[in-house]
Amino acid sequence: MNTEQFKWPVSGEREVELLREVLQSGRWGGHSDFVPRLEREFAAFVQCAHGVAAMNGTVTLEIALAAAGVGPGDEVIVPAISFVSTAMAVSRVGATPVFVDIEPLSFNMDPERAAAAVTARTKALIPVHFGGAMAAMDRLLALASRHSLTLIEDAAHAHGSEWEGRRAGSLGRAGSFSFQNSKVMTAGEGGMLTTNDEAFAERAWSIVDQGRERGGGWFFHYTLGSNYRMTGLQAAVLLAQLERLPEQICRRTRNAVLLRAELADVPGLALQAVPSQQNANSWYLLLGRIDARRAGRTRDEFHRALTAQGVPCTPFYPHTLYGNPLYRGGGCRVEPCPVAEACIGDAFWLPHRVLLGDQETTRAVVAAMRQACGV
Ligand SMILES: Cc1ncc(COP(=O)(O)O)c(C=O)c1O
Repeated sequence: MNTEQFKWPVSGEREVELLREVLQSGRWGGHSDFVPRLEREFAAFVQCAHGVAAMNGTVTLEIALAAAGVGPGDEVIVPAISFVSTAMAVSRVGATPVFVDIEPLSFNMDPERAAAAVTARTKALIPVHFGGAMAAMDRLLALASRHSLTLIEDAAHAHGSEWEGRRAGSLGRAGSFSFQNSKVMTAGEGGMLTTNDEAFAERAWSIVDQGRERGGGWFFHYTLGSNYRMTGLQAAVLLAQLERLPEQICRRTRNAVLLRAELADVPGLALQAVPSQQNANSWYLLLGRIDARRAGRTRDEFHRALTAQGVPCTPFYPHTLYGNPLYRGGGCRVEPCPVAEACIGDAFWLPHRVLLGDQETTRAVVAAMRQACGV
């Protein structure tokens, strides 16, 4: 297997060219012209009117909550399975994360469990498009509208994913993206908020830029913000990465379709369910679950066998979000989450770089996965 093809991140002459431009401009920081240029181009890619760049995809969630007026005394519904930022951002603004279960095969927030968790204190919900597969947006948007909740899409995995032709990050009040090293476009670190709400975008922009207002003077600070600015150097790299993203999505999609078709008959292996409304997928992760009784081997045995053959694989998170030491002592509300807890023991993912190879390499991955499943 040609594992050289799994290299990530990738860069080329375009990154170097744009970085050189920033270096020569003498404005390397957050007030470089490259930052608004990236905001415009990424917002257009997401089909949104506004983009607000920031340091990373954790602070973008905090900023979105703050800009939506979420704070102490409020509850925010989050899925029990995600990276910690989805919940930590809620705690950082002084609100309480409420953990709800995921659906068995989509790995995304279960809209029924979310509906059951709503109280008079609920202010917002943050579905995650896990691995690039979109959360059930029709039902979650209806829930948000029924209870006047702010819906923030955690789209850290979902650059380019689409729900009925609408890009991830354009359906809720705001979308939050990450450009951290493993993401499908990256500058090592980076984040972006997308929204169609102009006043919300201006509040977010002010929080990112130490409470300034556009045209309001360098030493005039109007709101309690901080310095969360993305640098011009990051923006230059991301502009180049954005140009390459559509072709990479096509390559991953072609390989994911092939791989899923070739693995459909493997007993005990269930790959992530992608909703029928989803017509484009970033394929950030290739997720699955192993039913040990039917497969005749456990997830950990599968993981060991696959990695021994050189295929990168992660045996899921070691705990639910509320199982983190941070939340074991409280500071959150936990709804029953049997599916999330089962996934800790039987789920896995392959990173998107495994889907960037040619067809021959993808067939070799299929063979390695079948062998790891004992087929
Ligand atoms: C679902 C999710 N949300 C938010 C983040 C946070 O992004 P960042 O690492 O850019 O802070 C991540 C990062 O991995 C993530 O997976």
